[in-house]
Amino acid sequence: MPTHQSLSGSSDEDLLRRMIDTYPERFGQEYWAFFDGRVDPLLPATPTIIDLGCGPALLLRDLGGRYPRATLFGYDVTPAMIEHGRGLSYAGAKPALHVHDVTAQPLPHAAGTAHLVSMSSVLHVVDEPLPVLAEIRRVLAPGGVFLLNDWVRQPLASYLAWRRDVMDEPEDVSRRRGFRLFPVHAKYTADDWQWLLAEAGLAVREQVGVRYSHRIFVATPAGAA
Ligand SMILES: C[S@@+](CC[C@H](N)C(=O)[O-])C[C@H]1O[C@@H](n2cnc3c(N)ncnc32)[C@H](O)[C@@H]1O
Repeated sequence: MPTHQSLSGSSDEDLLRRMIDTYPERFGQEYWAFFDGRVDPLLPATPTIIDLGCGPALLLRDLGGRYPRATLFGYDVTPAMIEHGRGLSYAGAKPALHVHDVTAQPLPHAAGTAHLVSMSSVLHVVDEPLPVLAEIRRVLAPGGVFLLNDWVRQPLASYLAWRRDVMDEPEDVSRRRGFRLFPVHAKYTADDWQWLLAEAGLAVREQVGVRYSHRIFVATPAGAA
């Protein structure tokens, strides 16, 4: 199975550095404004939060600051990511971080126990997303939130321009990486994501494009209040 690294052509260290460097832009003020307005009201004061494909664990660090009494878990298939996360300093709740392949093993959580499961820029690399979504659906508490934040298809010209102008890649780099990654990043439309979530028994309550390249979906188990 192709890994995230083989698809992106990055080494683990390259990907780690890129995730750290781009974190402030990816999870900036607009992200947190959306989170505070649309996700926070759905969570209890002491939530159990899971980040799948947590990367360097920066999102978990910031969620732990917002919910100091939360129980946090982060899983990632890349050991360098987990190692980095374990070395961070945490002002709030500290996450338990584990190397874990979401396509190979069930989540080590009982059914109906997670109040928030987050997945950011991960699901598009998974060959078969439905079993992973079924596992997320299994661990979500009634009314629990699946926060999916992932790439959505855009025209090739705007994707290449976005790499050059927003990611600040030199033209030759944005072309080289851009043509290789376009099929990966342009895999699903927003409608495709909605369809996948519905197939997995997850009802979309909100969706927003905080960044042009990505769409954020707030989904809860279908049929739950
Ligand atoms: C683009 S990075 C995003 C990291 C983090 N979510 C963020 O937004 O900063 C994708 C992450 O997904 C992880 N990943 C890819 N496939 C995975 C899998 N099957 N199971 C667990 N993690 C996976 C990679 O190791 C990488 O850390």
